[in-house]
Amino acid sequence: MTIKQTVKNLVSRWPMVKSAAFVADDLIWGLKLATGTIGSDTGATHLNLSESESLSYIEEVFADYKKYGTVDKFYGSVAELGPGDNAGVALLMRKDGCDRVDLIDRFLSHRDSQQQAKIYSALSQQYQLDEFKTKDEWDEKALAGIDWRVGEPAEIYFQKCAQNRGGIYDFIISRAVLEHLYNPLDTLRYMVACLKPGGKLLHKIDCRDHGLYTPEHHELTFLEIPTPIYRLMSRNAGRPNRITIDRYRNLLSEMKQSGAIDYSLLVTHLVAVGDILPHQEFDNIDPEQQRQAIAFVDSHRSKFADEFRDVDSRDLAVSGVFLIATKR
Ligand SMILES: C[S@@+](CC[C@H](N)C(=O)[O-])C[C@H]1O[C@@H](n2cnc3c(N)ncnc32)[C@H](O)[C@@H]1O
Repeated sequence: MTIKQTVKNLVSRWPMVKSAAFVADDLIWGLKLATGTIGSDTGATHLNLSESESLSYIEEVFADYKKYGTVDKFYGSVAELGPGDNAGVALLMRKDGCDRVDLIDRFLSHRDSQQQAKIYSALSQQYQLDEFKTKDEWDEKALAGIDWRVGEPAEIYFQKCAQNRGGIYDFIISRAVLEHLYNPLDTLRYMVACLKPGGKLLHKIDCRDHGLYTPEHHELTFLEIPTPIYRLMSRNAGRPNRITIDRYRNLLSEMKQSGAIDYSLLVTHLVAVGDILPHQEFDNIDPEQQRQAIAFVDSHRSKFADEFRDVDSRDLAVSGVFLIATKR
């Protein structure tokens, strides 16, 4: 075992020591971002996937948007937050009928361009996408009607969009991204302002700890870290923001009451249980699974940070959610 690995293993034993290491790393990320360095491992989803795994992932993400968003065919203008290292979902959106897809990412996910070209080629064989290829070889920077906007956080992009351009999108979508935003709630308001009437937000949000303290510690350990420390760990590096389902629901119901939107929040994952398939509202989940997840929360909640003390156990039991909102 290398010295680096030994130190890592030791640090992992104590959550507070690990948190201190994350704070230091986040400071470094702040400096990197300030100097314009945006290359990151985050979003490098396809780097370790086989070609067929990549295709399955892209197809699943696209199919989920259709299924849970109850979208027959995509159309008009789309913004995808945090596409990571691949524009496959955007290509399927274009093929389905969209005129334009804007890809908004704060970081430039590391990627292997040759591997990506092979993925696009295989996807094209399956779905006849050659009309979007503008060069002899597949080049993700030159896909017709697909515009990468890398290096600007979604927070800033949608704030500017709401202030300057208003409702320009028919769909604003993301997978495993909202939990990385440093300010997802204000950004959701801006996103609603950026939708055309009838436009939809479709966001699958993974509220787990993303390996911060797991597997060495239980899956809700990250809720034990005091709020000021957690903020210092997460803001620059894009670590999970710990926004729980109740906070999304409060914001969405406020916007619903003001007449701006209709919405639904489907549970995708429960603590101590796993994936909920098909995704569904909490009350419709098997009561035994509900009980198991709530019991897990209750067995750990005495140690949670103050921020979570008054949050209902049913809400803390939800570790993944599919947010669907339609602008009236
Ligand atoms: C877990 S990856 C998901 C990538 C891709 N959607 C997928 O399903 O494979 C999270 C993505 O969100 C991006 N991201 C993180 N914080 C962001 C922010 N504030 N604004 C926009 N994108 C952000 C990351 O760069 C990364 O591409």
